[in-house]
Amino acid sequence: MSIWSANTSFNHGELTLSGISATQLAKDFGTPTFFLDEAAFRARAISWRDGLRSEFGDKAGEVFYASKAFTCTALAHWISEIGIGIDVATGGELAVALAGGVEPSKIELHGNNKSMAEIDRAVSLGIHSIVMDSLHEIDRVAEAARKHGKRQSVLIRLTPGIQAHTHESISTAHEDVKFGFSISSGAAWAAVEKISQLPELELRGVHCHIGSQIFGTEAFEIASDRLLGFMAKYRDSFGVELPELDLGGGYGIAYLENEVTVEPSDVLPIIGKAIREACAKYSLQLPLISIEPGRNIVGPTMFTLYEVGTVKDVVLEDGSIRKYISVDGGMSDNARTALYDAEYSAVIAQRTSTAPTALSRLVGKHCETGDIIIRDIQLPSDVAPGDLIATPATGAYGRSMASNYNHVPRPPVVAVIDGKARVIVRRETEADLLALDVAKM
Ligand code: LLP
Repeated sequence: MSIWSANTSFNHGELTLSGISATQLAKDFGTPTFFLDEAAFRARAISWRDGLRSEFGDKAGEVFYASKAFTCTALAHWISEIGIGIDVATGGELAVALAGGVEPSKIELHGNNKSMAEIDRAVSLGIHSIVMDSLHEIDRVAEAARKHGKRQSVLIRLTPGIQAHTHESISTAHEDVKFGFSISSGAAWAAVEKISQLPELELRGVHCHIGSQIFGTEAFEIASDRLLGFMAKYRDSFGVELPELDLGGGYGIAYLENEVTVEPSDVLPIIGKAIREACAKYSLQLPLISIEPGRNIVGPTMFTLYEVGTVKDVVLEDGSIRKYISVDGGMSDNARTALYDAEYSAVIAQRTSTAPTALSRLVGKHCETGDIIIRDIQLPSDVAPGDLIATPATGAYGRSMASNYNHVPRPPVVAVIDGKARVIVRRETEADLLALDVAKM
């Protein structure tokens, strides 16, 4: 059951979330829909918050929830209630955080190409920190700070030269990437020197993000050592220690039954030990430690509910049969299979089946062969139109990466807690889609 969120269960074969059956959820909210287990979301956010506190005590910095994984006004509000911070990568994500009532002092801004408008807004708000990603940007942030008569606190994003074991498109800390400043090439040091000459900027510390969907702690341990080595070099040159180390996000989650979601208690003690050892090695005091989990908090807390529209047996070259099960969503609500060869699982959500399983492919309704949600899955051979199919662990980078391909309206997000369900992002309508067209013919 580890791929289903805490308040999900199966009653006589029917998927239920906080006591509400899949049939009822589909009837009330339609399909496809993302259902969010709000209590599980809150519990996961709290366990990262408390895990960081218990590992680092008064040296616990912030847990910045990486809102790119999924955000909306209601969720940003929960974040502010729980008292953690939020990481935003664009002006849009910043606007949602503010709409949700997140204090600017709890917001961190990322991105390798922040616009002048985004920088200006962030500086004028006085957010916690802006993570520096290029020399151009250092000038731009200084310019905005001058304009607003403020001193802006910044972190510098370092590239520690690590190959994290994950898909190439989501690994970010090897040398050949667009993000950050390389430690080994000297680019990072040049950035530090530039920042030190700009009185409008206060260098708070260093940051890295080594990649996403990472299991194991080795890459984090190596990154900690390299970043603290860099902080020691700073101390040696400038005579003061930088107060903060931000290790980014990346903690993996289970998508398939044989995988296990990383929990804060699995990784934080090991990363904490590596950080303390590196501090001892470089004679540094323990800095404030911040992290930015996104997927790990929200990913396990949502499932997508679809309805089957058509089922087709396709005879393959070797004579075997593949069952194509088409649902009413697809790559517009789950781009991850097409983009990263991501793997998901699925169940029939409203009934049990005793039929033997058949090799199946779960596909969407888009006009494209690559519109695949699950490439190969064994599902009961009696799957039929009208069945509900649920795919667990779609909370991260699902709705947030949803598109309107084929002018399909994007699905809603429904939060379920204490036996009650409410829409927190409504379903898009055809009117929403048409609203952007300027009809001057
Ligand atoms: N911090 C920074 C600077 C990041 O770039 C990211 C993710 C995170 C934190 C959060 O990482 P997480 O804890 O969620 O792994 N769309 C891809 C994932 C891209 C991740 C981008 N950066 C996917 O669907 O797998």
